Amino acid sequence: MRLHIAPSILSADFRRLEEEITAVEQAGADWIHLDVMDGTFVPNITFGPMVVDAVNRCTSLPLDVHLMIESPERYIEDFVRAGADYLTIHVETGYHHQRTLSRIRLLGAKAGVSLNPGTPLQSIEYLLPDLDLLLIMTVNPGFGGQSFLERLIPKIKKARQIIDTSPYSVLLEVDGGVNSKIAPLLRSEGVDVLVSGSAIFSKDDYQEAIAALKESHPI
Ligand code: DX5
Ligand code: ZN
Repeated sequence: MRLHIAPSILSADFRRLEEEITAVEQAGADWIHLDVMDGTFVPNITFGPMVVDAVNRCTSLPLDVHLMIESPERYIEDFVRAGADYLTIHVETGYHHQRTLSRIRLLGAKAGVSLNPGTPLQSIEYLLPDLDLLLIMTVNPGFGGQSFLERLIPKIKKARQIIDTSPYSVLLEVDGGVNSKIAPLLRSEGVDVLVSGSAIFSKDDYQEAIAALKESHPI
């Protein structure tokens, strides 16, 4: 798959959310990334299915919903009904991940799993048959605007290897501190989807910001 850019609306101006989404869509975004936080799994609280549903009515782009919540299995139906195309749970929380992921697929969405920086890849290897997306966090989740943890590059490399040597087609996504400086390296490591919040929404020109993530030269 060609590299996809998924702007995280966490860094958007929520007073003008529809305008912001239209702007990134017109600027070349491939997906919209939505960060759902519950104040327990991560120290921040954002929004739930109502806002996902509202965003769904603003755009035709696929919605990439990243659940940073405890007991995600309780809310799967709500988020799929709200319009999640990709629904990602964290492996550090909830029970019976295989069951939750297969339920996401049964409901008609694509199933993703995410790993905090400190969580080893080993914890998700058995889930590969149930996965459409593997999300590697390159910051500790909770807030936009944090710095990319470069020490996670070997983990990204390893994730690519694990996917490529498996019979499954799983997209590799990276989230946290992604900017145009680190993007070329991530592209060369074979990352499929780059999530980016502040490196897009803090810029005046979203088109330029997205193009820089897609096309900037290797560092
Ligand atoms: C972090 C979120 C990210 C965040 C990325 O907890 O999962 O999606 O919005 O924002 P930046 O690109 O600013 O790190
Ligand atoms: Zn995210």
